[in-house]
Amino acid sequence: MKPEPETIIRNFQKILHGADYNPDQWLDVPEVIDEDFRLMRVAGCNTFALGIFAWTSYEPEEGNYRFDWLQGIMDRMASQGNKVILATPSGSKPAWMSKRYPEIRRVNALGLRDPHTRRHNHCWSSRIFREKVRSINTELGRRFGNHPALGMWHVSNEYQGHCYCDGCLNAFYQWLEKRYGDLDSLNRAWWSTFWNHTFTAWDEIHPGDASLDGMQVDWLRFNSWQIGDFYQFETQPLKAFSPEIPCTTNFMTLSPRIDYGYLSQFVDVVSDDQYPRFDPDDTKLVEQAARIALKHDLYRCFKPGKPWFLMESCPGHPQWIKPNRLKRPGMHRLEMLQAIAHGAEGTCYFQWRKGRGGFEKFHGAVVDHDQNEQNRVFRSVVELGALYTKLTPVLGSRVRARAALIFDWEVRWNFETSRGPASENDAYQRVAVDHYQSLWKRSISVDVLRREQDFSAYDLLILPQTWALTDDFTSRLTEFVRRGGTVVATHYTGITNDTNLCYTGGFPGNGLREVFGIVDEEQDCLHSDEVRKIDPADRNELGLTGSMTASEVCSVLHLEGADALATFASDFYAGSAAITVNTFGDGRAYYVGARLSPEDVSQFYDKLIQTTGVVESVVPFRHPEGINIQRRSTSDHDYYFVQNFTDSSHKLPMKGLHWKRVEDGAEITTELEIHPFESQVYSCRSTQRS
Ligand code: GLA
Ligand code: ZN
Repeated sequence: MKPEPETIIRNFQKILHGADYNPDQWLDVPEVIDEDFRLMRVAGCNTFALGIFAWTSYEPEEGNYRFDWLQGIMDRMASQGNKVILATPSGSKPAWMSKRYPEIRRVNALGLRDPHTRRHNHCWSSRIFREKVRSINTELGRRFGNHPALGMWHVSNEYQGHCYCDGCLNAFYQWLEKRYGDLDSLNRAWWSTFWNHTFTAWDEIHPGDASLDGMQVDWLRFNSWQIGDFYQFETQPLKAFSPEIPCTTNFMTLSPRIDYGYLSQFVDVVSDDQYPRFDPDDTKLVEQAARIALKHDLYRCFKPGKPWFLMESCPGHPQWIKPNRLKRPGMHRLEMLQAIAHGAEGTCYFQWRKGRGGFEKFHGAVVDHDQNEQNRVFRSVVELGALYTKLTPVLGSRVRARAALIFDWEVRWNFETSRGPASENDAYQRVAVDHYQSLWKRSISVDVLRREQDFSAYDLLILPQTWALTDDFTSRLTEFVRRGGTVVATHYTGITNDTNLCYTGGFPGNGLREVFGIVDEEQDCLHSDEVRKIDPADRNELGLTGSMTASEVCSVLHLEGADALATFASDFYAGSAAITVNTFGDGRAYYVGARLSPEDVSQFYDKLIQTTGVVESVVPFRHPEGINIQRRSTSDHDYYFVQNFTDSSHKLPMKGLHWKRVEDGAEITTELEIHPFESQVYSCRSTQRS
């Protein structure tokens, strides 16, 4: 018999489907809780995150714990065959605690201590807060660590934010001392003679000062380190009582200030909170879908070969997205299956039931205020639950990609804290999406990796604005090309080292000038309404045609062995190379020295793929833009997730493929019709070998 695949929750061979559940808001209305358990069955939900904001319900007075209600809920979950992702409650501390121990409240950059407001606002280094967290987590671990319903620990909630109290600043100094050894090295690494910032004692440093961008990057790094440290601290008692139960903390997609790549090494399971605005009237829906696909692939690759899942998403409308437009029919399924297509093995919601009061009382939920199981949103959850039952064979299947794209917070931070380059409005992410979506549009699988991950086995490596380099990354990249790999880099490659000091001797620095056979001498940053035209070179080897358009940034390149594939057509740099290719060792190094329009980036990859065959689509046919097909494979089956992100129907030629629709077993052999915003999953016997 085939061994059962390793699932997110051990021995639970199901796609996780459920929600954040807050029965603590309804303890005085037991009939509502009874109804919840009935509706969970109807909805086909199997996994619930409990207790995220329940600290005061557990510990109404200091040291006086009350877990009876949780015990009751956990027991009912077990008897219904559900799994619980039990939270540690540090995401929102009790008001009594904030009052008794002011030091647990955060201090802002101006030195003012926050009042007890909102949530996510505790000091990372307060000893008292840590003691309190250790106590409550120990109680939870001791009482529930062996409970049959416990499937996973949900550690805190969306860790985020900085604290500038003396304790946190001291922790920053210690972290810096460990990293740099002494102040001389730190001063050199930060270029602190600039504006007379030379530090002669650690406590002269204040991270609220933006003058030194190297310091800014280190402050962000330190904050991710603090979060990782706090996470590990929180998990100690959980691991002691339940070593087999995985721990996670919910990440927030591509959040600019937290390095989730770094944090992913600490969690047992990667989980994400994702709230897209899939609005069918939005002309940017397809682009948004591509951006989310990039993020999904990044999360899939945090722990290669292991499944991840959506901890939070919304079956209805999140109240904070303006305007409060309802989620259109089909959109919920489209969004959830997109995550599964990219390696997720669960999609859960915030929230199970709408509360009657508070900030989130109009936030979409499985159960609305009407408590009606005929409600449209509720029905969409029921339908998805039924589909997930049929999709269980997908568990354990994996995506295989020959292309990799680098997306890295360390690069992003060095880029974004540098004054001068066109790095505003999330340019790092936008250019990455431009390049990623050129492959996504052709349904080519892509692994999205951090700089430190191994990319030696891929055929195509894409480096969108890899601003900051490490020596290790540079030498692996050089080796990759020398041995026959194809690399595509863009403007703003190899500008600084990891403390944001510019390379001297020409960009791309650290030896990459030779790999690309060019020097990127100057970068022209344009007004937002300006463009520059680029013309393909005569008989260029990729066959690029037509006039292309660049915006935001144009690099003035000089050839040092590379060939120009296209040149600028205007401004004083008219005639100089804009897109180049260089042969280096057995490989090819392309440089796209401008922010091309997304259509032109697509043309570039189309021609590259047609000419070189370096990567291929998961299907043997071209399909219209806005259709996406992802493939997940087991040892004997391939699963194709076909999604239509457009408002028109399309017919896809099967070109000899023979698929079975997983939902109803229908056989598809000649043509596949996919309706507006439809998503379907098909299976067939595997054709590829790993
Ligand atoms: C975050 C939080 C949830 C909830 C949702 C609302 O993701 O973790 O508690 O507030 O936002 O969208
Ligand atoms: Zn602090």
